[in-house]
Amino acid sequence: MLVFIRMGEDPASRVYVGMKEKTAAQLGIESQTIVFPEATAESVLLERLRSLNSDSQTHGILVQAPLPKHISETIVYRTVAPQKDVDGFHPENVGKLMLGDLSGFVPCTPAGVHELLRRSGIEIPGTRAVVLGRGNIVGKPMTAILLQKAPDANSTVTLCHSRTLNIESHCQAADILIAAIGVPEFVKASMVKPGAVVIDVGVNRIPDPTAKKGSRLVGDVAFDEVQPIAGKITPNPGGVGPMTIAMLMRNTVEAASRMAQQS
Ligand SMILES: NC(=O)c1ccc[n+]([C@@H]2O[C@H](COP(=O)([O-])OP(=O)(O)OC[C@H]3O[C@@H](n4cnc5c(N)ncnc54)[C@H](OP(=O)(O)O)[C@@H]3O)[C@@H](O)[C@H]2O)c1
Repeated sequence: MLVFIRMGEDPASRVYVGMKEKTAAQLGIESQTIVFPEATAESVLLERLRSLNSDSQTHGILVQAPLPKHISETIVYRTVAPQKDVDGFHPENVGKLMLGDLSGFVPCTPAGVHELLRRSGIEIPGTRAVVLGRGNIVGKPMTAILLQKAPDANSTVTLCHSRTLNIESHCQAADILIAAIGVPEFVKASMVKPGAVVIDVGVNRIPDPTAKKGSRLVGDVAFDEVQPIAGKITPNPGGVGPMTIAMLMRNTVEAASRMAQQS
């Protein structure tokens, strides 16, 4: 059983949880969504997490971000039991990844990017990778994955952020360029080395009067101008997003099978 927790009615959170529920159902993974009103006290949420931690029928727990301002993400992620932390955000799982111990759960989006690279036959060892964005959910764990001393990693990684000087020159040197900053179409053709692999993680809603909703989703990469230069490029939407969900399902199956082995 995979349990989703949603706080309030944030439209994006509803969509994300809905997509994850749908995939779980398609794969035959039981799931349940618990919705708390936005004003719920942090202590109430933590109490529920503790009871799910000790419930033998619950194998994975996912608390959908963003959380209301009065709730600390750090405390919430620390409260989910590491063995049920299918999002890979508990400090124990984060620490294991940094130490090169792959027995923990790895955050789903960077794990999905890694799987995409592997299944696309990209030889990662020896490459120069540039990761844009030092967020805890994508950029930092992505860097840790590509740095692993392992035959499907061993990349030399540069991690860029909003204070990086001359970010273009870093990007231009990248064999693998991964954009996870949340700035619409930030990566332009002039920033990409011909033949580079470009992975677009960003999800940005921009105004578009021609669209039915008045807006549309774009990534962090200016796809139309970068595609002719890149060796390989992910579409967005439809590239990294589905991989994130696939990795969540993989982590859930892994959590359930580990629990079954222990019982
Ligand atoms: N497809 C998926 O499944 C998926 C999953 C998760 C996230 N995302 C998307 O990925 C993006 C990043 O998410 P996140 O949670 O990692 O975000 P985050 O924690 O807010 O981190 C954003 C990072 O981007 C950097 N940044 C912002 N503007 C920049 C600029 N102009 N130049 C260089 N760096 C800049 C920030 O730098 P500072 O640290 O210096 O502020 C920060 O390190 C978002 O668009 C999010 O929606 C997609």
